[in-house]
Amino acid sequence: APAPAPRPLALSFDPVAKNLADRVTVPPGYTATVVCALGDPLAAGTPAFRNDGTDTGFDQRCGDHHDGMEWFGLDAQGRPEPAGSARGVLAINHEAITDHFLHAAGASPRPRPAAEADKEVDAHGLSFVEVRKDGGRFACQQGSAFNRRVTPLTPIRLAGPARGHALLRTKFSPAGTDTRGTINNCGGSTTPWGTYLAGEENWVNYFTRGAADDAARGGDNANSVVSLRRYGKAQGAASRHGWETAGADDKYARWDIGVKGASADGSDDYRNEMNTYGYMVEADPYDRGQAVRKRTALGRFAHEMGVFGLPAAGRPLAVYMGDDSRGEYIYKFVSDARWDPADANPANRITTGDKYLDAGRLYVAKFAADGSGRWIELTLADALIAGFAGYRFADQADVLVNARLAADAVGATKMDRPEWSAVHPATGEVYVTLTNNSNRKVEPAGSSQMPVDPANPRSYPDAPTAASSPGNINGHIVRLRENGDGGAASAFTWDIYLFGAEAGSAANVNLSALTADNDFSSPDGIRFSRRTGVVFIETDDGAYTDVTHCMLLAGLPGQLGDGTAQVLNYTKADGSTLAVPTRVGAKPTAATLRRFLVGPGDCEITGITETPDGRTLFVNIQHPGETIARDDVADPARYLSHWPGNAGYGAGGSGARPRSATIAISRDDGGLIGVDGDAVL
Ligand code: FEO
Ligand code: CA
Ligand code: CA
Ligand code: CA
Repeated sequence: APAPAPRPLALSFDPVAKNLADRVTVPPGYTATVVCALGDPLAAGTPAFRNDGTDTGFDQRCGDHHDGMEWFGLDAQGRPEPAGSARGVLAINHEAITDHFLHAAGASPRPRPAAEADKEVDAHGLSFVEVRKDGGRFACQQGSAFNRRVTPLTPIRLAGPARGHALLRTKFSPAGTDTRGTINNCGGSTTPWGTYLAGEENWVNYFTRGAADDAARGGDNANSVVSLRRYGKAQGAASRHGWETAGADDKYARWDIGVKGASADGSDDYRNEMNTYGYMVEADPYDRGQAVRKRTALGRFAHEMGVFGLPAAGRPLAVYMGDDSRGEYIYKFVSDARWDPADANPANRITTGDKYLDAGRLYVAKFAADGSGRWIELTLADALIAGFAGYRFADQADVLVNARLAADAVGATKMDRPEWSAVHPATGEVYVTLTNNSNRKVEPAGSSQMPVDPANPRSYPDAPTAASSPGNINGHIVRLRENGDGGAASAFTWDIYLFGAEAGSAANVNLSALTADNDFSSPDGIRFSRRTGVVFIETDDGAYTDVTHCMLLAGLPGQLGDGTAQVLNYTKADGSTLAVPTRVGAKPTAATLRRFLVGPGDCEITGITETPDGRTLFVNIQHPGETIARDDVADPARYLSHWPGNAGYGAGGSGARPRSATIAISRDDGGLIGVDGDAVL
């Protein structure tokens, strides 16, 4: 008999309504359970988490503020098996902390008690956690040999062109070859050879330097002063948590990067410590004995995350990366080594990363108004970089360590905060979320803030809540298609895929005609299911009251925004128009984009990954109830969230301190997440 005709893939769930409930809301027919929350013990012998601020030993517990995450499968015997869907290792980034809930009476003022600083430091970094499906639900396996914490104190190898460079010399590593730890790890992804790749995002905030440090470094025009200012570290600016005040030990003193030592090369103090942060970080999820690497070839900036273009045999690999800060850039790394599919064999893992990620070229994106774009290589061979008046680059490693300055020199396009990137598993198109930009302004004329451009077209006062949230308040998603030769291309075409907005707002604001079932603001995480091709879009705090709780949407990219290329004549606040490349001929509909999840109180929806069978979706609920003052810690009635204690997970019940956590979502009928049909990848 002839094979039955394939049933086209279609979204198959009821959209979740916006709500402010302090729980995770998923569609009818789906169940969400907690897998691993802040403080859960990872090592054998670590006591259960009391969640009252008295717990210690966070280097053996799950960290805080779960962010980017990837699944690494195991077989039934616990051996690496990329297709494994019932047992695996979750790699989880712990971007930041809600400090008050880590201590019994909230975080103490400065000078910080050493015991508090130790807990806070250890609650950052990465977790590798074995999880298994048992009785139909996934649970974290305390004591597994795969469990591992990487904290801001774990020794890490500096790899690639800047390894051993004078800019990386510190008292900890006078040779400039190593550093301690990783911090503010935001998004995550998997390499084609099966390791984990995490970004280091807002690392600048954790450091401080004295009010007279500019002079100690040689004054306004000294290279290191120019670099520190460009990366946002003005002299005298306070550190985020004041760890440098916790004691004389180097593990505290290192957070103060002011010049102190006598050595001219900085090898006897921590003046260069911040140059060892801001990289893409590669770790081996299956082998905790392997040193973590910082891949300096991929540049230094506020790395949200990096995602690989579709690998092709015999071709270089490409990694797409956003620098998440207002007006920063989109970058691409292209490997010198050409992809050998035999390297997908998990035998060598992180040493395979040494082959692909330590040599290559770094590019920055420049968008043109006609829907074309160029990748500009950041190289000293470019006269604009070699002759840049703002900073004197010593060599190519200096270009990588100060990639933002090199990108300034070549006039790259300032974007509305590039967050995650995702690559469509069939077309190879690159989708980049641009979350919002309060500095994107049309007027007044002469303002130092950024004027709109076709790739970042929206600004105050177009939006209804402009008074409280100026700039591009809702964000958008831009899409790039490489020209001709895949990831190594030097040119691309682009259009805007989707504009965030509140349903019912003016047509000039709600450009994608979103409805109550799919409106959103501040897109952040984005991922394509490798099983079905469905795109998942996660949001950070939105600009509108009824979209405040962060959410997850599911869409069908093959049917969404793929109409004929058009020019949208966007009307600016002054009445003039701006031509914006789009494919608005196919705006999202109820059939192609729906809200799939709404988070608990005062949270952000962050990391997302899936089992290879497409039947379990893991999502991170970041910082529920993070808005808390020290004096309010004693009064649970003042918490903005009690999740997941109020959902029956862990100690504390309905009055619990809130905890960041990973959840697993499955369909009660065991089906694919979000869709029905046969047209799977
Ligand atoms: Fe960590 Fe840009 O979000
Ligand atoms: Ca983010
Ligand atoms: Ca964000
Ligand atoms: Ca956050």
